[in-house]
Amino acid sequence: MEQQKRYGHFDDQHREYVITDPQTPWPWINYLGNEDFFSLISNTAGGYSFYKDAKFRRITRYRYNNVPMDNGGRYFYIKDGDTVWNPGWKPCKTPLDFYECRHGMSYTRVTGRKNGVEASVLFFVPLKKWAEVQKLTLTNQSNEVKNLKLFSFEEWCLWNAATDMENFQRNFSTGEVEIEGSTIYHKTEYRERRNHYAFYHVNTPIQGFDTDRETFVGLYNEFADPQVVIEGKPRNSHAHGWSPIASHYIEVTLQPGESKDFVFLLGYIENEQDKKFSAPQVINKDKAHALIAELDTTQKVDQAFAELCQYWDALLNIYNVRTGNDKLDRMVNIWNQYQCMVTFNFSRSASFFESGIGRGMGFRDSNQDLVGFVHQIPSRARQRIIDIASTQFPDGGCYHQYQPLTKRGNNDIGGGFNDDPCWLIFGTVAYIKETGDFSILDEMVPFDNQPGSEVTLFEHLKISMDHVINNLGPHMLPLIGRADWNDCLNLNCFSWDPNESFQTTENVSEGTKAESLMIAGLFVVTGKDYVALCQKLGKTQEAERMQKAIDAMIEAVKKHGWDGEWYLRAYDFYGNKIGSNECDEAKIFIESQGWCTMAEIGAQEGMVAKSLDSCKKYLECEHGMVLNNPAFTKYIYEYGEISSYPEGYKENAGIFCHNNPWVIIGECLAGRGNDAWSHYAKILPSYVEEKYQTLHKVEPYVNCQMVAGKDAFKPGEGKNSWLTGTAAWMWYTVSEFILGIKPDYDGIRIDPCLPETATDYTVQRKFRDAEYEITIHPNGAQKGVKTITLDGQPVDGTVIPYSAGKHVVEVTM
Ligand code: GLC
Ligand code: GLC
Repeated sequence: MEQQKRYGHFDDQHREYVITDPQTPWPWINYLGNEDFFSLISNTAGGYSFYKDAKFRRITRYRYNNVPMDNGGRYFYIKDGDTVWNPGWKPCKTPLDFYECRHGMSYTRVTGRKNGVEASVLFFVPLKKWAEVQKLTLTNQSNEVKNLKLFSFEEWCLWNAATDMENFQRNFSTGEVEIEGSTIYHKTEYRERRNHYAFYHVNTPIQGFDTDRETFVGLYNEFADPQVVIEGKPRNSHAHGWSPIASHYIEVTLQPGESKDFVFLLGYIENEQDKKFSAPQVINKDKAHALIAELDTTQKVDQAFAELCQYWDALLNIYNVRTGNDKLDRMVNIWNQYQCMVTFNFSRSASFFESGIGRGMGFRDSNQDLVGFVHQIPSRARQRIIDIASTQFPDGGCYHQYQPLTKRGNNDIGGGFNDDPCWLIFGTVAYIKETGDFSILDEMVPFDNQPGSEVTLFEHLKISMDHVINNLGPHMLPLIGRADWNDCLNLNCFSWDPNESFQTTENVSEGTKAESLMIAGLFVVTGKDYVALCQKLGKTQEAERMQKAIDAMIEAVKKHGWDGEWYLRAYDFYGNKIGSNECDEAKIFIESQGWCTMAEIGAQEGMVAKSLDSCKKYLECEHGMVLNNPAFTKYIYEYGEISSYPEGYKENAGIFCHNNPWVIIGECLAGRGNDAWSHYAKILPSYVEEKYQTLHKVEPYVNCQMVAGKDAFKPGEGKNSWLTGTAAWMWYTVSEFILGIKPDYDGIRIDPCLPETATDYTVQRKFRDAEYEITIHPNGAQKGVKTITLDGQPVDGTVIPYSAGKHVVEVTM
């Protein structure tokens, strides 16, 4: 194994990851903002900001296909004599005497030192504010007086991130700005249909500015050597068209030991239509002035930062475990929950791998993300469920994605992914179990956002189940449609045209026999939830009707979906088996093993145990379980995108982390705690962090979507960090199935599944208006709760009945 260099470490006490070398193998990013105003920020302060929607309301510009270069961001240039440097090392890359980046909960602090000067910048988005704060603290640590020249820098995006990067014939003529005191306003297109603008402010008088990129950077220079900075002289340029930017120039004198704060503010404002202008051509700045006034001193900013920290304290105190294993505790208590919030906010839209232009919110993605987030802020989860359900069609199908700003389904991609409807049940049930709020089922929710089409949310769940039942194939298994969870298993697509996307090309449904075992398992799992919900609601007939459909599905899987040692994956258009020992390649797939074992189909007949064993035997490798084995070595026209990937990557035998937890839950249900744990630890970031920082490449504090599989050129190399369903699934797996604390309609079900080496642990769980302190004594058992006491009194069964107040629970296994 190649020598693994280390670039940082966890600081659990501050809930931070501390990066000590700016040259991480890839930019390691963080997210700022919790609602509405968001920023992405790398360890060198690269990245960009947007309001609600990374496509339609991009505030600052991003340069695409930008990794590992990571060009563009919020930069501070410090000119100290002839030396120009940045606290985050980039873009000048002047060697620093000290560098540190601390990524914390919705904030990032970047600190650099050079020649006796320290520059430390705290970046965060205050709660409920549409602005990014950049608090820069300059300290003179030397024995001489320092006369510094400070330049700030941001580059505006012309709002629509897609047209911003393709329509230059227009863009180069539309840019407009205004300058007022220490504030630079960006108002491109404000004169016409837009009623929003942005600004960049600093809370001190400035000695100059620039707003035109070419003037600032200079012809043929780079961000690393902007002409204005090199010469130490701002030009007070005023952008007309071309590329508007914002740069303040400040002269700073620091006595030995002296320290000064500068509060920079990147803000976003929306005005009412009739209050857009204060004079002809002049934007109405009232709201900007008000926002600036709220954050124009160190004291106000420190207060806002303290509130943000309290907010995260409260969120992370809802579920807290003490096992004594640092690597487990830090993921459960900090980073996994944090990543769940981020995936809830962004779905798969904006990261250094997702452009923010292509995808909005995914129907299946967002429902899964809910499971990781619902305990944090249930009211936001509730709204999300309604938003998602509003993009459903009357037949139960749905748009695959929608835009967060408009909440409208995305027509480019459309629908036809036949697993999508089931996920609505998955998300909704998780919400009700957490909150006890059954009233959500009575909410009136439209189809495709059409006013007048509203039916209850419960009705949406019903038609979701029916959509599967109404679309069965020749083996009475679910028809796959465009694809199931695996976007790349395109069995009805048949494409020889490199110019068409597998996702949007014609979906030949006429005459198809393409069926999915993944949807079959998903249907049984979510169907059981649906039946239990109906029983809870007293809808006995509906419960019976659906139970019959589930029973029939189980029979169909046992009869047509079992291959001898594992569950088949699918049938293709012509009715041929996929994921069978009879196939030349890709004999076994993970998705159907995960879902059919979670559904416990054929458990009595030994199918579950055999399937789990086969996962270990054929899918597991050093870094996790691969998606399929053996990998496809050639393109198969009947299968679509899946076989377009080279061996070991993505959906072709990559370790798609998202689906490893499915098998882990299957292991937990089967009571195989040792196996569950060993699969889990393989993809748990804190374990990977310890061993593989260089090889893994991507951020070591969160899960990535995919790790190169055993057939890849570099097994273990991670890709597509941050935005992945893995976050929610890892959380669901560890919190509910491994540690075994499972919200239920009437209380909390306790049913851990642990490795036999596990020792006593305590979970602090806030649940509705109650707070439970639950201590588990595993006694070497992998599974099986023997006794439970609630406040000293024995409890029958495994559900602690809910009642408000503080409670102490003791569990022996
Ligand atoms: C990506 C998609 C998700 C899909 C998965 C597998 O993570 O966002 O919807 O299920 O890939 O193809
Ligand atoms: C999913 C897959 C990816 C595929 C994409 C299509 O995200 O992970 O491999 O290219 O869907 O949109």
